[in-house]
Amino acid sequence: TSAAMLAAPKVPLINPTGLARFVDPLPIPPVMRAAGQRAHPHDPGRQLPYYRLQMRAFKAKLHRDVPATPLWGYEGQFPGPTLETRRDEPLLVEWANALPAQHFLPIDHNLHGAEKNQPDVRAVTHVHGARVPADADGYPERWYTPGHSATYLYPNGQDAATLWYHDHAMGITRLNVYAGLAGTFIVRDAQEQALNLPSGDYDIPLMLCDRLLAQDGQLYYPVSDDPDAPWVMQCNGNLPLCNGKIFPYLEVEPRKYRFRLINIANTSFFDLTLSQQQPFQQIASDQGLLAKPVERARIELYPAERADVVIDFSALAGKTMQLRHQSQGILEFRVRGSGKRDSSVVPASLREVPRLDPAGAVKHRVMTLNEVDDANGNALSMQLDGKRWSDPVSENPRQHTLETWSFVNLTGDAHPIHLHLVRFQILDRRPFDLFAWNARRELTFTGPAVAPEPHELGWKDTVRADPGMVTRIAMRFDGEPGRYVWHCHFLEHEDNDMMRPYDLLTNS
Ligand code: C2O
Ligand code: CU
Repeated sequence: TSAAMLAAPKVPLINPTGLARFVDPLPIPPVMRAAGQRAHPHDPGRQLPYYRLQMRAFKAKLHRDVPATPLWGYEGQFPGPTLETRRDEPLLVEWANALPAQHFLPIDHNLHGAEKNQPDVRAVTHVHGARVPADADGYPERWYTPGHSATYLYPNGQDAATLWYHDHAMGITRLNVYAGLAGTFIVRDAQEQALNLPSGDYDIPLMLCDRLLAQDGQLYYPVSDDPDAPWVMQCNGNLPLCNGKIFPYLEVEPRKYRFRLINIANTSFFDLTLSQQQPFQQIASDQGLLAKPVERARIELYPAERADVVIDFSALAGKTMQLRHQSQGILEFRVRGSGKRDSSVVPASLREVPRLDPAGAVKHRVMTLNEVDDANGNALSMQLDGKRWSDPVSENPRQHTLETWSFVNLTGDAHPIHLHLVRFQILDRRPFDLFAWNARRELTFTGPAVAPEPHELGWKDTVRADPGMVTRIAMRFDGEPGRYVWHCHFLEHEDNDMMRPYDLLTNS
């Protein structure tokens, strides 16, 4: 196994150590206003809020001392505006592709062979974690070119949660998201509202990612100069961004805040701590509230994972505190001397999260995560269960049934595995014998199953599948029959075959 040799950038890149810290205020993406009302497509007597978001090119200052960066974003913003809705309140969103005719990031036409003859500029939007019928899910092959749009109905029949929207176009998601096509989508509900958690101005999405930038401000996306290993298996930036700014600060009142941490990076994970020896109180994960808050000194977030945390600044009036990634400050909180009275609370129990019982599963699927190498050990692609995207559908659960899926990770890295449509629970992770698997395709465990930690006991839609482990999840396939996908959320892997269609079949 060897990663592609990354070509030395032809232009000098910005070095983070030379950049002034905490000189830009943290942007808080504006909440999108509905453009009007439209008839419900299946119930024309009913009017629904109608939103229109246009993907377009724009320039933004990512840091005071960095020249403006050309980007692509929803409504010309990065991150895009926040969509907010409530449980069971459907809405219509028109996702309009108004991007330029040419891509501005390096496209590798050898990647994903089937995509060679597709137009470079193509886009389709998926709301990550949304329970939507297949025709509104942003299926990767349903991309469209500039001048076209797709209008999707989101029923929002799901618990309050921090979701996010992003591009999902076949074979080019990594570049489209890197260019800036991502935003937050919040579902609220009455049950959560009744808890009196910090809300309103004290409830802030924090989209985290990283980028490489040339000194003139242009986005730099790594390329390989090894003809035998043309694809880039990962894209790790050296500049951390919070809501699209490098090293910003946020003025806060001495009180509790809720932050919705969302990792929107291509491949990097975030390893988050707070200065001042403060812990996070995690109240929610990917698919909403945990059963009870979990105090955590450190939060590791893989791409696409979310953690909603409450941070209490009440003992820090007049002081500063930093959010750190790998012990480097990436966001500074400046706590004012005083503020309005804080009547919010973090209740000791948040909601019920009944555990799924794997004994009730009608099917137990065991699937590998594997790397495909050439004779010299150059990685050619990543696969799920040894299959390519274009292979026939092999996962076909029946509607309203429970299944367990086990991911046998044969690679050297952890992969964040995401299923569309459903929410799942992590059952366990268990070490296995890689040699026995390779020799006889036999699953031999070498140690006891490791139960998920308290913060992993909530509903999830993305799970870290560790190397050398079998990661087992359980889910009930509620939702509309149709074709969805499951994939690794390292966008470089997703684009190079680590994604598979799955069919949800009717139960008859
Ligand atoms: Cu966040 Cu299939 O995606
Ligand atoms: Cu992967």
